[in-house]
Amino acid sequence: MTENVSNVSKEHAMNIMNVDYSTKIPNNVNLSEDRQVLKALEGWHPGYMNWWGDMGPEGFQQSLVYLRTAYSVDPRGWAKFDYVKMPDYRWGILLAPQEENRVIPFGEHFGEPAWQEVPGEHRAMLRRLIVIQGDTEPASVEQQRHLGKTAPSLYDLRNLFQVNVEEGRHLWAMVYLLQKYFGRDGREEADDLLRRRSGDADSPRMLGAFNEATPDWLSFFMFTYFTDRDGKMQLHSLAQSGFDPLSRTCRFMLTEEAHHMFVGETGISRVVQRTCEAMKAAGISDPSDVAKVRALGVVDLPTIQKKLNLHYSLSLDLFGSEVSTNAANAFNAGVKGRFHETQIKDDHRLQNSTYPVLKLVNGEIKRVDEPALTALNMRLRDDYTQDCVKGLLRWNKIISTAGYDFKLTLPNVAFHRQIGEFKDIHATPDGVLIDDATWNKRKGEWLPSTDDGDFIASLMIPVTGVGEFASWISPPKVGIDNKPGDFEYVKIET
Ligand SMILES: [Fe+2]
Ligand SMILES: [Fe+2]
Repeated sequence: MTENVSNVSKEHAMNIMNVDYSTKIPNNVNLSEDRQVLKALEGWHPGYMNWWGDMGPEGFQQSLVYLRTAYSVDPRGWAKFDYVKMPDYRWGILLAPQEENRVIPFGEHFGEPAWQEVPGEHRAMLRRLIVIQGDTEPASVEQQRHLGKTAPSLYDLRNLFQVNVEEGRHLWAMVYLLQKYFGRDGREEADDLLRRRSGDADSPRMLGAFNEATPDWLSFFMFTYFTDRDGKMQLHSLAQSGFDPLSRTCRFMLTEEAHHMFVGETGISRVVQRTCEAMKAAGISDPSDVAKVRALGVVDLPTIQKKLNLHYSLSLDLFGSEVSTNAANAFNAGVKGRFHETQIKDDHRLQNSTYPVLKLVNGEIKRVDEPALTALNMRLRDDYTQDCVKGLLRWNKIISTAGYDFKLTLPNVAFHRQIGEFKDIHATPDGVLIDDATWNKRKGEWLPSTDDGDFIASLMIPVTGVGEFASWISPPKVGIDNKPGDFEYVKIET
């Protein structure tokens, strides 16, 4: 008897681990027996394909791309690599396995069983959070739409497309939640996710950073390092949610997200590496001699710093206001937790605790203790900053190993902000408050200027030879799926 039971549950676990590819929409949520939701998703599918055709990668749609596709949600082995034409990619619905007896790990419902259905009282809040997360996914595909034309190698081209198809899958993940759990409103929201467009004047994407252009590959690497990392923090917080289907969805998305940030981190590493090598070979001792460095056909370190300043500050805005009652409400409700909530040693209710928040007090940036509940955005942003630092250490190691006295740094959180405490003031990257006139005079020292953009654009010449790389970027240390350096990651069909 016991044996039978354990066999049955083992089989059940296997079914969840492995993805069913027999339905039009691959899934591990038993869609073949959930006809209503399957129908809704199938109804949404043509609109998605139209969107992909209109707003997905420009060109290369008939090329064979060496992509990974999830076939399981087992963390020990979940993806298969193969040549796929992007429109044939199997975008599916994948949730991490259900944790037995999971309880809500924070807020007013702390310790109660996690919800398998949407609790009526928190329905509007949950829907809003899912829509906001969902909106970022197609937005980044739209932002990266033109980059294929200027890829520095087939390896990078493949990575771009991998990120793109997975962001598409993340949209599917959010649409599944909307269609399964939010009825008619959910279906309307799902349609709207295909209607908004990044940067569109009439119908923009919901968050600022997702309406900015990604004009070149350095921007792409900065975006995947800094902005996808905001995504990581948001997904971690939602993975703690008391609404179990959302938690499971986000947990699996995080598995894929790791690669996006890898693309960013190693991309920037390779640019820095190449710049240092070129400077050394040319006998340049001052990395701030921009004209000399640029003449070598590589991106000078000061320009890399400016790009970093831009993308980091835009990404900080994604965390919202430092002090926020919405964040407090979502936490109290058990809907959105903290980064690594279950590993934090406290009461997980935060009714009586405080958290230090950077604020503008009488014209000075000061730390002020605020109720921990309303300071949750600030806390998540601090966790994010800590996570960002790791890449900088690696990049700076490359620079110092090459013998150069130059350090990439994260700008002060008051620098170049459009949301929160510092949106109405100007500050230098060191956090010194300055007036409008000084800002206008000096901002070109800290943020990419039109000239900087033009210079970077001048380097963006596509390299499509097998195993070849553009002048401004080093080859990766290891190939994707352990492939050798001369592997043909994309078989280009024109
Ligand atoms: Fe994503
Ligand atoms: Fe991502």
